[in-house]
Amino acid sequence: MKVLNFGSLNVDYVYQVDHILLPGETIAASSRTIFAGGKGLNQSIALAKAGAPVFHAGLVGDDGDILLEELSANRVDTRFVERKSGPGGHTVIQVDKDGQNSILLFGGTNRCITQEFADRVLAAFCEGDWLVLQNEINELAYIMQKAHGRGMKIALNPSPFDSNLDSCDLSLVNLFMINEIEGGQITGEKDPEKILERMKQLYGGAQVLLTLGGDGSLFRDGESVYRQPVFKVRAVDTTAAGDTFTGYFLTGLLEGKGPEEALRTAAKAAAIAVTRPGAAGSIPCRDEVARWQG
Ligand code: RIB
Repeated sequence: MKVLNFGSLNVDYVYQVDHILLPGETIAASSRTIFAGGKGLNQSIALAKAGAPVFHAGLVGDDGDILLEELSANRVDTRFVERKSGPGGHTVIQVDKDGQNSILLFGGTNRCITQEFADRVLAAFCEGDWLVLQNEINELAYIMQKAHGRGMKIALNPSPFDSNLDSCDLSLVNLFMINEIEGGQITGEKDPEKILERMKQLYGGAQVLLTLGGDGSLFRDGESVYRQPVFKVRAVDTTAAGDTFTGYFLTGLLEGKGPEEALRTAAKAAAIAVTRPGAAGSIPCRDEVARWQG
């Protein structure tokens, strides 16, 4: 079984600020740091650090060296990451004194995926392999259809949630990895229990991981619902905490761990990640998570 993450790669420009900018306001940042990021890249690195055999597919632009180096340094297979001239995906991230962030995203080459490229990548995967997707690349609907046609299983983190998802056949998804805002956008419900109930009505057989920020997470598999509280830590930067959680959780399930253990390990990994600055670089490795006492 192989894991293919067809996803975004962003250079994150992170600015430390006193508070997140208000409309019309100008403030000075106390520092700027450049990190490898992107929901796709972060989740590939979380999967790899958690122990999954992961292939990343995507497109980097002129500034993509840092992204390829970060993936390779973390044992993510990059044979399906191609270069395209032009500006690559990047973000401007403000991080305030409480570790909260605000992200401005420019898609760049992440939005230049062609169906021909998708076909070429998917040809290397087959029945029983997993496809992991987020919503920072184009051609999602096509990639999902083709992967399903090849018998692959699909894990979707529909983040950031927008109208690009309207064209996707979400009934093809085997595992949704959503937060409560995305859950609300998909179902129209606010209450976590009702989100899970409605997801069941809409997408019957799919498993659903629902993360709830400081209120922990829920996982629904058939009639069973599992809960995991957060481990309380002092947050420095919450960027990539969700990506860390999803990568660790999915790896746990793929390794055959029970949902309780997979959730607990993912919650520990995300707690460690928020105590460090940056995106991919803040994701802990498996041994560190195993040793961590909170
Ligand atoms: O989930 C965090 C990521 O979202 C950042 O690394 C940034 O690139 C944005 O895509």
